[in-house]
Amino acid sequence: MTTTSTPIVLGVESSCDETGFGIVSEGRLLGQGLASSAAQHADFGGVVPEIAARAHLEAVVPTLQLALDDAGVQREDITHVAVTSGPGLATAVHVGLAAAKSIAWSLDVPLYGVHHLAGHAAADVLEHGPLPERSIVLIVSGGHTSILAVGDLVRDPIEHLGDTLDDAAGEAFDKVARLLGLGYPGGPVISRAAVDGDPTAFSFPRAMLRQGDAPYTFSFSGLKTAVARTVETLERAGEAVPVADIAASFEQAVVDVLVKKAVRAVRERGLDTLVIVGGVAANARLRAVAQEKCDEHGIELRIPPPRLCTDNGAMIAAVGDLLVRSGAEPSGLGIAADPSAVLHGAQLPLP
Ligand code: KG4
Ligand code: ZN
Repeated sequence: MTTTSTPIVLGVESSCDETGFGIVSEGRLLGQGLASSAAQHADFGGVVPEIAARAHLEAVVPTLQLALDDAGVQREDITHVAVTSGPGLATAVHVGLAAAKSIAWSLDVPLYGVHHLAGHAAADVLEHGPLPERSIVLIVSGGHTSILAVGDLVRDPIEHLGDTLDDAAGEAFDKVARLLGLGYPGGPVISRAAVDGDPTAFSFPRAMLRQGDAPYTFSFSGLKTAVARTVETLERAGEAVPVADIAASFEQAVVDVLVKKAVRAVRERGLDTLVIVGGVAANARLRAVAQEKCDEHGIELRIPPPRLCTDNGAMIAAVGDLLVRSGAEPSGLGIAADPSAVLHGAQLPLP
């Protein structure tokens, strides 16, 4: 039973094509509701911001109700609201932000703006408990790919060791899926196709692994171009495109680079925990190869279950819950969307 002094935090997420509400109390996920407009974007090969925004608008009220029902919580039980105020598609972020402000205002409870990527990291806390004092976090999503040095997720500044120079890992999956005619989102369809493929059939480039390259910086656009050229060459020669082999070889190339750089960061920093989060962390090959390499080096690997890797409201509630328990000042009802917010801290705007 929860007492009246126990915080019950509602998280609201709408930065891309998922409308998510999650309810978290003292590190425990009580329940969540999720709606996705992914199917409406499939014909376009990527998210159409206006379509996403309209879908959020339609989904807000029923999805909030799903979360309340799932958690067995009444609206009036909510003590704090947390919301993604950036980064993301401006039109989409605005819908969740307006919803969160309305809920917080009508219940007269504090509102916290949350950085979406900090939410991805916090998702793991729901599954595996508090993060260690220091860890390396690899964030691999549709819009971002970064290696971060993280201390206390909501109190300490977040240090970027490296980011991507061009495409994010998830974006590479989405673009390659489009050129293989597999649809959107690309990650799940590529990994399904890859199951029957040979990951060594094509030797696609592994960028930024040469000596002298920035150790934690990524680049995926060359890999995408290499896949495109392979497909073009086969088609021009009138040969069938071996979709499964290309998908498996592409996936292996992405995974090799991600794991190599993340493990290197943990070892060079003298740490013993690697946390992998974001939509691409749902990838089975990434999970398996990372586990194998971490075992080899005595590193503890933490990855949330796949349903908490892709966007959801629970992860935003998880940040809100950490902020509340650390005594952070609320952001207030005046917060604005920050569509291109860089990750320096979990709360937005930075206190
Ligand atoms: O974190 P997320 O849900 O949204 C963003 O914050 O961007 O990540 C979405 C990305 C998409 O690019 C999608 O293709 C990718 O995550 N993704 C995957 C898998 N599931 C989703 N990539 C590889 N394998 C998967 N199983
Ligand atoms: Zn995300």
